[in-house]
Amino acid sequence: MTTPAPPHPYRSRRACLSVPGSSEKMLAKAPGLGADELVLDLEDAVAAADKEQAREQVLAALGSMPSGTSCAVRVNAPRTQWCHADLVALAGAPQAPSTVVVPKVQSAGDMAFVDRLLDGAERAAGSSEPIGVQALIETSVGLRALDAIVAESARLRSLILGYADLAASLGRTRAGAAVLDAWLPAQEAVLHAARAAGVQAIDGPFLGLADDADFRAAATRAADLGFDGKWAIHPAQVAALTELFTPPPAEVDHARAVLGALDGGAPGAVALNGEMIDEASAAAARRLLARVS
Ligand code: COA
Ligand code: MG
Repeated sequence: MTTPAPPHPYRSRRACLSVPGSSEKMLAKAPGLGADELVLDLEDAVAAADKEQAREQVLAALGSMPSGTSCAVRVNAPRTQWCHADLVALAGAPQAPSTVVVPKVQSAGDMAFVDRLLDGAERAAGSSEPIGVQALIETSVGLRALDAIVAESARLRSLILGYADLAASLGRTRAGAAVLDAWLPAQEAVLHAARAAGVQAIDGPFLGLADDADFRAAATRAADLGFDGKWAIHPAQVAALTELFTPPPAEVDHARAVLGALDGGAPGAVALNGEMIDEASAAAARRLLARVS
């Protein structure tokens, strides 16, 4: 069996900038900062006392984004007192986000909860465009349940690996968390699960704010492994991510040639410049081209 073809077009998510939903100033500034996707945050960047106000501000920001701005909203985690209200409000918004990021996903049940709540809320709002889901994997329980998590909902668009909560969940010290190799098993697990499901794999935020050597080493590692993009928490990191996750021109040309050669859905394998290509090559080519368009 080959890698499944994506059930929907990929969106470019090389640089995903997290923007606190409680900051009107940052929400206003965010669309001009060059990120492929903005992740308007209702979860950990927002204090408990500010949750309702942040939700209102995020709904207003969605309504006033320049056209063409790709927006996700990170809702609060399932089982918190805010998650269901966040989802209902977003599904009913005149400008709904294209996806919600669901944090601390631990089980297929978490995905089913979000899926059915969105089903009902979208039906009530008369909305025809289903909101996608990006599942943030940031606990050891979630990591161990990846196969069930990716199989649950057709809304799934990406898996995101979250380091800060995962370090806490594992009992990993700050010194341990700074060692890139220590994250390799978790990165591979998320990448394999995402690819098996035909969705994107996104590397979560690095906690430094600068575009420095450590940040670039972490981003380069993720790009080399095959991740589609990474979160930035400060505007200074966006340009580096865009550059590091943009495939080189020769790879883009090759991907276009692969899709051209397979155009018309040629069954099975065909030859291209002395190389065998098939549907697996086409899936890889579509994924790669999503990063440049
Ligand atoms: N999105 C949009 N704008 C941002 C931003 C972000 N994530 N981070 C900083 N900015 C803006 C600032 O408002 C400032 O604007 P100005 O020049 O018009 O005053 C400019 O970029 C430079 O910011 P700077 O002064 O260097 O940083 P700061 O002290 O204002 O902010 C943080 C530092 C950490 C508070 C901020 O970057 C932040 O909140 N990041 C996101 C945190 C988050 O989302 N966490 C949850 C996911 S892990
Ligand atoms: Mg987290």
